[in-house]
Amino acid sequence: MKKIISIIGARPQFVKASLVSKKLRGKYREILVHTGQHYDLNMSDIFFKQLKIPKPKYNLGVGSGMAGWQTGKMIIEIEKILIKERPNLVIVYGDTNSTLAGSLAAAKLHIPLVHIEAGMRSGRLDMPEEVNRILTDHIASLLLCSTPTAIKNLKKEGIVKNVYLVGDIMADILCENIKLAQKHSQIIKKIKLEKGQYFLATVHRAENTDNKNNLKQILTAFSKIPNKIIFPVHPRTRGYIKSYDFENIISKSPYLTLTEPISYFDMLMLQKNALAILTDSGGIQKEAYELMVPCITMRDETEWIETVNSGWNKLTGASSRKIIDATVKLHKPAKHPNLYGKNVADKIVNIIDGKIKILKDFDAQTKKN
Ligand code: UD1
Repeated sequence: MKKIISIIGARPQFVKASLVSKKLRGKYREILVHTGQHYDLNMSDIFFKQLKIPKPKYNLGVGSGMAGWQTGKMIIEIEKILIKERPNLVIVYGDTNSTLAGSLAAAKLHIPLVHIEAGMRSGRLDMPEEVNRILTDHIASLLLCSTPTAIKNLKKEGIVKNVYLVGDIMADILCENIKLAQKHSQIIKKIKLEKGQYFLATVHRAENTDNKNNLKQILTAFSKIPNKIIFPVHPRTRGYIKSYDFENIISKSPYLTLTEPISYFDMLMLQKNALAILTDSGGIQKEAYELMVPCITMRDETEWIETVNSGWNKLTGASSRKIIDATVKLHKPAKHPNLYGKNVADKIVNIIDGKIKILKDFDAQTKKN
């Protein structure tokens, strides 16, 4: 049986891997490697439990740190595992430091690399995610794209071989889990929310958290919106709110409720029942679209441009005035085209099936060197 190693490490990757791994198991020996980029109960363990992801064979326990240190430490450990396990293929997801570390370790050992969610671009090299995406795409052997825009982006960079449009895996997973979330999540009752009467907010992008003025603008907007806002706070953001001494901004609003990071099922329920969502997350822009909830994206650009073009997503940047303005001009378009496909996990596995047949095993690949 051929062997596949999937590298995961951050919250959205646990979600993405849950379904692909389920489809790979049985056909292949899939080994999960968790880098430990996210490590708390709320940021990691709860996702494995809810989405029934098997315990990773390896957990590198890398934890937090500067990007170079974090990525470097991951590469060193992943390389050791790849040499020991001799996989036929390595899979990476998205654009995190764990993605880049897995990609570099695999590419240097000449192990074929599959990038799921390839070709996303913001055009901003000051985003760590953009650097991770570009580098990964240029060394991947198989590039599986969520949208036609991603295919075009790759073409502009000269990448045309082994590129496939499969659709977006997050949409597939949402579809698989929404009923379970409805059954198991108590969050709406627990925090006494009225359906369609509150905003849901998330902020965690480095461009919005590490930048003092951007975070101030966003929190100021939250504190001035005269409507209930539920704000599950990412640990990175919590750290910056404290270090910039911004607690005084948020404490002004009687409407704003901060919570710890929440589980996937709770997040789906909070999104589904929100009046609108305020976010800088990539995944949440798509989930909002799939759930037909208007989204306000507190960034100047988005990789998921179709959500904006369809009228369901509004870009405001980190401008307090524009954010508040967008919350009073909410708009639900009449049309809701299918942007992200269907049966995406099956398509991914079919393409991998086709490719893996012609792959040589690890020893044959490394003997060449
Ligand atoms: C990462 C990804 C981003 C992705 C996001 C999802 C990169 C460059 N960025 O950013 O693309 O959208 O994950 O959440 O990889 N922390 C905890 N507990 C945890 C995990 C993190 O307290 O379980 C804290 C750490 O102290 C650290 C920060 O949160 O300060 C995490 O930073 P980082 O590893 O860069 O990840 P994210 O900011 O989450």
